[in-house]
Amino acid sequence: MQANEKIVILDFGSQYTQLIARKIRESGVFAEIYPYNIEKSKIDVIRPKGLILSGGPSSVYAEGAPHPVFNVFELGIPVLGICYGLQYIAHKLGGEVDKAAHREFGRAELIIDKHNLLFKDIPDNSIVWMSHGDSLTKIPDGFEITAHTKNAPICAIRSLEKKIWGVQFHPEVHHSEDGTQILKNFVREICGCKENWDTHSFVENAIEEIKEKVGDKEVICALSGGVDSTVLAVLLHKAIGDKLHCIHIDTGLMRLNESEELIRLFKESFNISIELIDGSEYFLNGLKNVTDPEQKRKIIGKSFIHLFEIAAKRFNNAEWLAQGTLYPDVIESVSVKGPSVVIKTHHNVGGLPEKMGLKLIEPFRELFKDEVRAVGRELGVPEWFVNRHPFPGPGLGIRILGEISVEKIQTLQKADAIYTEEIRKAGMYDKIWQAFVALLPVKSVGVMGDERTYENACVLRAVSSVDGMTADWYPMPYDLLAKVSNRIINEVPGINRVVFDITSKPPGTIEWE
Ligand code: XMP
Repeated sequence: MQANEKIVILDFGSQYTQLIARKIRESGVFAEIYPYNIEKSKIDVIRPKGLILSGGPSSVYAEGAPHPVFNVFELGIPVLGICYGLQYIAHKLGGEVDKAAHREFGRAELIIDKHNLLFKDIPDNSIVWMSHGDSLTKIPDGFEITAHTKNAPICAIRSLEKKIWGVQFHPEVHHSEDGTQILKNFVREICGCKENWDTHSFVENAIEEIKEKVGDKEVICALSGGVDSTVLAVLLHKAIGDKLHCIHIDTGLMRLNESEELIRLFKESFNISIELIDGSEYFLNGLKNVTDPEQKRKIIGKSFIHLFEIAAKRFNNAEWLAQGTLYPDVIESVSVKGPSVVIKTHHNVGGLPEKMGLKLIEPFRELFKDEVRAVGRELGVPEWFVNRHPFPGPGLGIRILGEISVEKIQTLQKADAIYTEEIRKAGMYDKIWQAFVALLPVKSVGVMGDERTYENACVLRAVSSVDGMTADWYPMPYDLLAKVSNRIINEVPGINRVVFDITSKPPGTIEWE
């Protein structure tokens, strides 16, 4: 049977595994991540054209170190081992790995000893990124050394006969200058994958699949106002037209004019009508006298599901519920699956489909956030919308610390709109991963004109991040901070003090509740 034009990456727990998938997709080939202990029968169904063994934090000798559960070298397809993956190859096939022979972290110059397809178009002395404790001291029989660095005499190996390649460095990280080309060489030159993964073909295939799946039934889509659900709705509408029913619940905790803008965007740009449910009173009633962040999150989640169920009953021909679930949410990867405590209860509609007897449709299960943005652009969703910063499901409810009231919501909406407007004006919006204002339950004394004031403080937050899991506070220019602070205090009654948050994640979180 013919192989599929895709690459499988086995994840041994490296923090960079997702980057391997990203880089390969950027070279036009589809790559998917699976846990290192996937069974052979599953790989037989996927039929990839090549296999990549990722890096990982373990030593191959350590007790409980991750080892695949079948002989991956007998699949008959090219294998590339990266860092731990390379060490696993050596360990398994009769080479030797030494614990602290040549620890190496950071940049190194790659000296190619033997030019080959993996290093096609790679110049000598290319900078590569090393991050390993153990290293190879003896290569397995049948292999040859193809590159070294100053500190790693064995930096890359291959066996043409066995179709196995291995590199000690991380080609997937940005600091490896020619890393993308190396991965591209592996998937295109060595595995022979055709370039067939791009946004345009994704959209075309997704439309066909949705049409086929849905048939003459109907689909419900909960529109939050965020990028993912918006792009999802536009895609579904292209596929099934009026068989799509969009429901937007205005929680009353949205940003300034957000629900109105959403309805207008859909009507004007896409001719899609949305069922708007004004839930603001319902949400506010439920939140009365509640100050605990977790309790707020749970009430908002439950209220959402309650109103959504009522609204969806009207569409009794619907058999499907569409969700904008993304790839990082679904990969069963060892690096993301570890035991973790609940820091925050996330607001989502998980569990709803079973409760309502609906089947799930999730066209973005295989995409990363910026790929969804690219799909949005392909479908004509305007740039300003596609690039919007993430916004949490519980909305302003978790940005008003302590008890929520209509007045506080209005105050925060105004302050937040000013902050966003100034960031956009300064041309910095797209450089920042997320920026917002939170309203603090703290009053302080100030003086305006000759009057004493005693009002609330608000905090400006801005972070850079890749996936929201970790984040750095963003070094906002002083003049921008000054302008925003000035405008908020002058234009927003109820706030007389503005502070800037300089906490990274960890130890902080991005949202304040
Ligand atoms: P934290 O505050 O946990 O947030 O550092 C990480 C990212 O997730 C967003 N966030 C949420 N998104 N539902 C969501 O859809 C939620 O309940 C939720 N809570 C936080 C947050 O805005 C940040 O981008």
